[in-house]
Amino acid sequence: MPDAALPATFHVSTHPAIQHKLALLRATSTEPKKFRELVREISWLLGYEALADARTAPVTVQTPMETTTGAQLADRIGLIPILRAGLGMVDAMLELMPTAEVWHLGLFRDERTLRPVEYYNKLPDTATVDLCLILDPMLATGGSATAAIDVLKHWGARRIKLINLIAAPEGVRAVAEAHPDVTMHCAALDRQLNEKGYILPGLGDAGDRQFGTGHR
Ligand code: PRP
Ligand code: URA
Repeated sequence: MPDAALPATFHVSTHPAIQHKLALLRATSTEPKKFRELVREISWLLGYEALADARTAPVTVQTPMETTTGAQLADRIGLIPILRAGLGMVDAMLELMPTAEVWHLGLFRDERTLRPVEYYNKLPDTATVDLCLILDPMLATGGSATAAIDVLKHWGARRIKLINLIAAPEGVRAVAEAHPDVTMHCAALDRQLNEKGYILPGLGDAGDRQFGTGHR
C-alpha cells in the first residue's frame, strides 16, 4: 500500500526501539517466553503513542516545595483484548493506564472462510468507558477488527482505537472503509496476505507463538 493510499486514521510507528523489538519478535528463533516479553514491551510503547491525544484534567499536587497543578487522565479507558492473542498486550497497557477497565472479547477466525466467529462477550448493556483500545497483535483481513468495532459501537462506545503489532494493507483498508472514525496504531505495515490469510512477512500465528501451541 503506497503511503498516499494510507488512510489518515492509520499510524505506523517509526520509533527505533519498536522497530528493534519487532525484528526480534518476527524471528522464528524467538521462543514463546521471549516472544511474550517482546509483545508486552512493544505494546507498552504503542500504547504510549496511541494515548497522545487522550484527555487530561488538571489536578492540584502538593510537592515538598509548593503547590502546583498537574494533569491526570480524564478519559475512562476500556481495554478490549481480542482472545487469545490480544491477552499478551493487556499487562503492558494496564501499566500505562492502571485504572483502565478490561473487557475481553472472544473471536477466532474460521480457518476455511477467514470470517470471525464470536465466542465470548460479557460486555454490560451500556458503555462504561469513554475511550476503547482494542488490543490484537495481528490485523490481517480486518474481519476480526471490524467485528470487534461493530460490537463496541453497538455497546455505545464513541471513541475507539485499534492497537496492532503488525497490519496488512488488506486489513487497514477494510477497517478504514467500515469504520473511518476509528484510528489504527501499529508497529509495522507488512506487504500482503498469503492464500491462507497470513501476513507476509509477518510473524506467523501470534496466538500460537505466545502460548506455545504451534504444533496443533
Ligand atoms: C488472529 C489474530 C486476530 C485475527 C486476525 O486470531 O489474533 O484476532 O487472527 O485476522 P483477521 O484480520 O483476518 O480477522 P486467531 O483467529 O488466530 O485466534 P487466536 O488469537 O485464538 O489464535
Ligand atoms: N493471525 C495471525 O496470528 N497471524 C497472521 O499472520 C494472520 C492472522
